[in-house]
Amino acid sequence: MSEELVERVARRFQDFAEPYLREPGDDFAYRLKVDHTMRVRSIATDIAETSGVPERVHLAARLAALLHDIGRFPQYKEYRTFRDAESANHAGLSVRHTLREHMLDSAPQDIRRLVLGAVFLHNKRSLPATLPPDLQAVAQIVRDSDKLDIFRVMIAHFSKQDPEHPEVALHVKPHPTAYSQDVLESLLRGETGDYRRIVWVNDFKLMVVGWLFDLNYRRACQMLHELGYLDTIFESLPKDPQVLALRRQVTEHLARRLANG
Ligand SMILES: [Fe+2]
Repeated sequence: MSEELVERVARRFQDFAEPYLREPGDDFAYRLKVDHTMRVRSIATDIAETSGVPERVHLAARLAALLHDIGRFPQYKEYRTFRDAESANHAGLSVRHTLREHMLDSAPQDIRRLVLGAVFLHNKRSLPATLPPDLQAVAQIVRDSDKLDIFRVMIAHFSKQDPEHPEVALHVKPHPTAYSQDVLESLLRGETGDYRRIVWVNDFKLMVVGWLFDLNYRRACQMLHELGYLDTIFESLPKDPQVLALRRQVTEHLARRLANG
């Protein structure tokens, strides 16, 4: 039953995205979001499977992964940007379009509530301190999966494997060595980076590195480690003493998370 429901929602997602992919000239932006969604779905499935979560959390996490970014399509179509600050909160749009398109009408009520909650919370800087345990688990799985795939998207973008597209890195300024002191210092304090402080391309990379501190599931840390994303990002950052200190700190943090189970 649950596999069938996930497949049905996956097909609905593809049908929803389809007309956008036919927009002349903008297909790259939309394709990026379709591919991202499919990868977030498979990462979320992996985390849920290996972390022994209850079946309802497992199901809701897969559905929320499929729907978390559907608001990106109408957002880009209307505003021509993925920057929420200059357009609309895309998580709110995702909830609105999930409801408008009746994406979850065949899901049980409790699952629907978990999915909508996790979709709405997926892009918050941090989660509220008190959430019902199931919602917290679903939201954490989706947030970890989303971050893990954005690591990949950013690396592909900065290493020029993907075609140039300004919306991927949200219009940061290119420079080989410049970064903002306050961004680096907040990471050295173990804080998660803030989109609003990003100026340079290296700030963006530093912020992405800082997402490690915000990963909830050990399995997500394990994937990050196995994929070597942090090393790849650090190789493309300037090698000054501060950045090297951050690299040591991040490496130790990851090793601790992997050792602690
Ligand atoms: Fe998102």
